[in-house]
Amino acid sequence: MNGRRPILVANWKMYKTAAEAVDFLDRFLPRVAGVAEVEVAIAPPFTALDRAGRRLAGSAVALAAQNASAETEGAFTGEVAPRMLAELGCRYAIVGHSERRALFGEGDALVARKAAALLAAGIRPIVCVGETLEQREAGRTFEVLAAQVAGSLASVPPERAAELVLAYEPVWAIGTGRTATPEIAQEAHRFLRERLAGLFGAAAGQVRLQYGGSVKPENVYALLAQPDIDGALVGGASLDAEAFARIVRSRGPEEAR
Ligand code: PGA
Repeated sequence: MNGRRPILVANWKMYKTAAEAVDFLDRFLPRVAGVAEVEVAIAPPFTALDRAGRRLAGSAVALAAQNASAETEGAFTGEVAPRMLAELGCRYAIVGHSERRALFGEGDALVARKAAALLAAGIRPIVCVGETLEQREAGRTFEVLAAQVAGSLASVPPERAAELVLAYEPVWAIGTGRTATPEIAQEAHRFLRERLAGLFGAAAGQVRLQYGGSVKPENVYALLAQPDIDGALVGGASLDAEAFARIVRSRGPEEAR
């Protein structure tokens, strides 16, 4: 046992209104009641955080945001500050997702500032890294991951490392149905764990490493069985209450599956 409690996070992206989020939770929560061996969080769009958070109150399922500003407050039209998310009960926030990196121009330096701002507000960052298909085919995967880890985690002090979640999401596996094999994912996770050890020393053993990219009920168990895979960040399959509940229960007792 490595002591790391697996964490499964639903990244809903720009799907579901507040009413649809509550409807999902009405169907999802009874299906995962009593599941204790994994931690579960739901990351709805900003507009659904308040109502989803109220629906989650009293359950073991945590609330997460999909992004956050690196700033505390100020003239930043359209941005949402970490302390505003904390007020709504967010325990986690995703930062540096590949869609934000590719579509909104976010780089490692900004991701690092966001991670630091979240920690300052008492929110645990889920920092995403991952190579593109082009980078993998050029044999640059580990070089890219090393640079992303060093840059994106530059402001996390070792004493806060245990609060960090690092998500490995190969861009070629996101939304494509093309999941990394457990072996390919484990190889990347082991590499990331080594880099974390370089940054944080012994605390690297406490950082949870999530895999993300076309995770489904059918493939999650084999991924989570790998020694350095401590959870999953789930997009498409998390939009369906039954499918995400099956993912959450995949490590549970056989009869609960
Ligand atoms: P996917 O998305 O599960 O739909 O591939 C994962 C993610 O982008 O976090």
